[in-house]
Amino acid sequence: MPFRPPLKEYVAYLEGIWESGIMTHNGPLVRRLENEIAKALKVRHVACLANGTLALQLAIRGLRLKGEVITTPFSYAATPAAIAWEGCKPVFADIDPETLNIDPGRIEGKITERTCAIAPVHVFSCPCDTARIQEIADRHGIKVVYDAAHAFAVEWGGRSLLEYGDVSAFSLHATKLINCGEGGGCVSRERGLIERIKRLRFFGHDDEKRIVDEGTNAKMHEITAALGLVNLKWLDRVLGNRREKYGLYQRRLAGVGCLRFQKFPPESYNYSYMPVICETKETMLRVEGALRRNDILPRRYFHPSLNLTKPYFQPGLPVSESIAERTLCLPLYDDLPESDIERICDIIRKAS
Ligand SMILES: Cc1ncc(COP(=O)(O)O)c(C=O)c1O
Repeated sequence: MPFRPPLKEYVAYLEGIWESGIMTHNGPLVRRLENEIAKALKVRHVACLANGTLALQLAIRGLRLKGEVITTPFSYAATPAAIAWEGCKPVFADIDPETLNIDPGRIEGKITERTCAIAPVHVFSCPCDTARIQEIADRHGIKVVYDAAHAFAVEWGGRSLLEYGDVSAFSLHATKLINCGEGGGCVSRERGLIERIKRLRFFGHDDEKRIVDEGTNAKMHEITAALGLVNLKWLDRVLGNRREKYGLYQRRLAGVGCLRFQKFPPESYNYSYMPVICETKETMLRVEGALRRNDILPRRYFHPSLNLTKPYFQPGLPVSESIAERTLCLPLYDDLPESDIERICDIIRKAS
């Protein structure tokens, strides 16, 4: 369930849009949202875009990547799709069974002379091993593009997680921590790269409207940016609320032997998902079935492991294949009542 701010706060922005008649084309609210995100997350350069998938695509295009990109099979289809749509080949490396992120120890074995980049995902906002990944990338002279779709507002090593690697792509989709309905963007420490991404999102125009790049239409529009601006004001409340609800789930499910939680650094996590990892596929199916019979809709994020799907078939990644069969994301949203969490946990206890 997406976070919905008080409607009147959004309507106030809409009145301004109606007044000005400016709906799109890098309008004032998009620019304001970029500034507010930069301020709230303490990052230098931000480009807001139509969605997180296009953000990944423009990150790859902005860096002029060509060849193979090493990524994780435990992600949403958007990750390999964005790589493939930019003419690169996604190559999967297996994951760590505790953090659910790409296992840095498996990356080097996948590097060939065609490898141009690593595209790890901070799964459910758990930070990847950024130091080891950067060290591998530097040693091989390749780029790092983070799929940070889940990782808005996560601090890591004293700064925003989005400032690691060459560029990070975040999502502001309805299901994400801060949402615009649909939306996303890129963050980089390189001003030139974000300027290029801004040209790419607007058909390749520069500030004088000359066409200087092979662009597309990936612009965020004003009606979307307005929702982002309203929601961003609620960031601290949203973060605190999710953290509490996650904690309640953890306490209520403690001692259920056939379940475990993702391993993450508690101060560097935004609690936007509630994944539980079952000991076996049978337990997961039992728990899922019991919840569904009670009209509770958990999600099998991410299933199946992407290396077993037809467009990206690369079998033989046992950790991801197994985790994808056993992981279930439980309901976690801003106005989810505590009594519902207690009921969900009771159903899980009985079914497991
Ligand atoms: C890991 C991951 N990457 C990329 C995306 C794509 O983001 P968007 O839906 O904003 O295009 C998603 C969306 O859910 C995702 O979960």
